[in-house]
Amino acid sequence: MRIGILTVSDRASHGVYEDRGGPAIRECLTEFLSCEWQPHALVIPDEQEHIEATLKAMSDDEGCCLIVTTGGTGPAKRDVTPEATEAVCEKILPGFGELMRQVSLKSVPTAILSRQTAGIRGKTLIVNLPGKPSAIRECLLAVMPAIPYCIDLIGGPFLTTNEAVVKAFRPKA
Ligand code: MTE
Repeated sequence: MRIGILTVSDRASHGVYEDRGGPAIRECLTEFLSCEWQPHALVIPDEQEHIEATLKAMSDDEGCCLIVTTGGTGPAKRDVTPEATEAVCEKILPGFGELMRQVSLKSVPTAILSRQTAGIRGKTLIVNLPGKPSAIRECLLAVMPAIPYCIDLIGGPFLTTNEAVVKAFRPKA
């Protein structure tokens, strides 16, 4: 079971600062998931074509059932992660962004600046998170209960969670 972890940041990819988002996602997934999984982590700049190509490679070539991105969801000119996500997905799942903004709004009024979304490409669920490391656990924890069933529905592997932290909801189980 492979999971893509994609940090989208000009500065982290150019070594101006250390990537903290990717390791934070990895830490959260290690805490939340009880099944075996392998991370496939990359750090790339805010270039739409590059993001699209990386999402396609993680999905089509690496066989990731889930890709979690961080960064590039805001209103600035170089923020294009949601556009790249939408361009490579066959279906968009707006509920992910809606829920994550709702949860984040309890911590910061600027939560509404994130255009984060999610979608399906083949047998891969792609979920955008904001770039702030503090947003990662908050957002991922909010949507995690629905992720295993979503991956069931698209023909992916059976994900299990550490129920002391987050309980996967499977309506048909
Ligand atoms: N969500 C949470 N939970 N915590 C935050 O600090 N920052 C917001 C928003 N969502 C934030 C958050 C801000 S300031 C911006 S600009 C947007 O996410 C987009 O961030 P990004 O461009 O780094 O993805």
